[in-house]
Amino acid sequence: MNIYSKRREKLLKNFKDNALIILFSGNAPMRSEDEAYPFCVNRNFYYLTGLEKENMALLIYKIDDVIRESLYILPFDDTLARWVGGRMSAEEAREISEVANVNDYSELDGAINSVMNFARSDCSFRIYLDLWKYNPEQAPSPALVCARKLQQDYPAATIKDLYPYMAKMRLYKDEYELTCISQAIAKTRIGIENMMKTSKPGLNEMVMEGVFDFSLMRNGCNENAFKTICASGERATILHYSDNDQIMNDGELFLCDLGGTFKHYCADISRTFPVNGVFSPRQREIYEIVLNAQRIVEENAKVGVSLKELNRMVVDYYKAELPKHGLLEDVSEYYFHGVSHHLGLDVHDIDGSKGRKLEAGMVITNEPGLYIASEGIGIRIEDDLLITGTGAVNLSKDIIKEPDDIEALMKQN
Ligand code: GLY
Ligand code: MN
Ligand code: MN
Repeated sequence: MNIYSKRREKLLKNFKDNALIILFSGNAPMRSEDEAYPFCVNRNFYYLTGLEKENMALLIYKIDDVIRESLYILPFDDTLARWVGGRMSAEEAREISEVANVNDYSELDGAINSVMNFARSDCSFRIYLDLWKYNPEQAPSPALVCARKLQQDYPAATIKDLYPYMAKMRLYKDEYELTCISQAIAKTRIGIENMMKTSKPGLNEMVMEGVFDFSLMRNGCNENAFKTICASGERATILHYSDNDQIMNDGELFLCDLGGTFKHYCADISRTFPVNGVFSPRQREIYEIVLNAQRIVEENAKVGVSLKELNRMVVDYYKAELPKHGLLEDVSEYYFHGVSHHLGLDVHDIDGSKGRKLEAGMVITNEPGLYIASEGIGIRIEDDLLITGTGAVNLSKDIIKEPDDIEALMKQN
């Protein structure tokens, strides 16, 4: 049994009653005319199958303790193969996912209909779909379209969200997943060091983004975990600035927040360094405060503590510290985001409820910042932590962040 079979087996243990699970790999939205955005596979579909192609569906039903799994994929198309490359064959899909029964996508509706007829006399029967919708404007996903069709065609059907069951599994990372996250971090480290070595006044922020992307690709990674943030000067005080198109000036700080992926597992790292390679005394002073806040989080991120509590520790520390540096006691003037979120196949990984207590096997970020617009100083330092039974392990400890280490590396320009 490979990891995907094992995950499906574990998922199914949650369902005591008869159930049907339908998951879609998704498809890329169009960008313009005949150009699509890059495709990003549905993370829950990928987690359970290892497949990452568009327009696939996974059907699992459990009826009277008989479990049947089937995949539905688009058939091989000769013309398409010549124009853009071949679709995945049934054999390949079977081999990767270990789902034995692979069918043509056009048979999906018929298969659902058969299950619905079969389960008709069972009042406890439920259908589970990934009913994620981030905002009301978002175009309906194949799962939402399917849920609507099910409601129309089978008005008595009980439809449920699969999300809580997926969260229960994905929140805990196994050895394989930790290796993937560490690989993503290692590739990200090379990119950040190359950016530090490249930085100089007069460069455009997009050059730094290019250096990072090239470093990732040079190391076999062609996926960013999220839109890279390259912000110099005042722009670093905008939390998710990502225009990355302004000139980096002498005397300014440069903030990058970025990550590569490995097998779609994300790194999420922020570093802040001086454009010209040397911190001013004031920049160093503020930088040390953020670094201390990071130490507080790392020391306290342990089993039984919540992300909310970690954030409270940062706010309390800032409240006591900031007035000593000529800043207001009102922390919200300079710090207005949470200090942590879960990390995995998604950068803001599944079920980020801030009150949940940490447990061993969870991976979270540690990302305090200070954003002082009046001084043009924006600083965020972000590492990725694994929670273990004996405290937090910093998975990104090899990415330099002490001011002296940064200055020493940047001198090599
Ligand atoms: N890169 C987004 C974040 O740090 O949460
Ligand atoms: Mn983050
Ligand atoms: Mn980040």
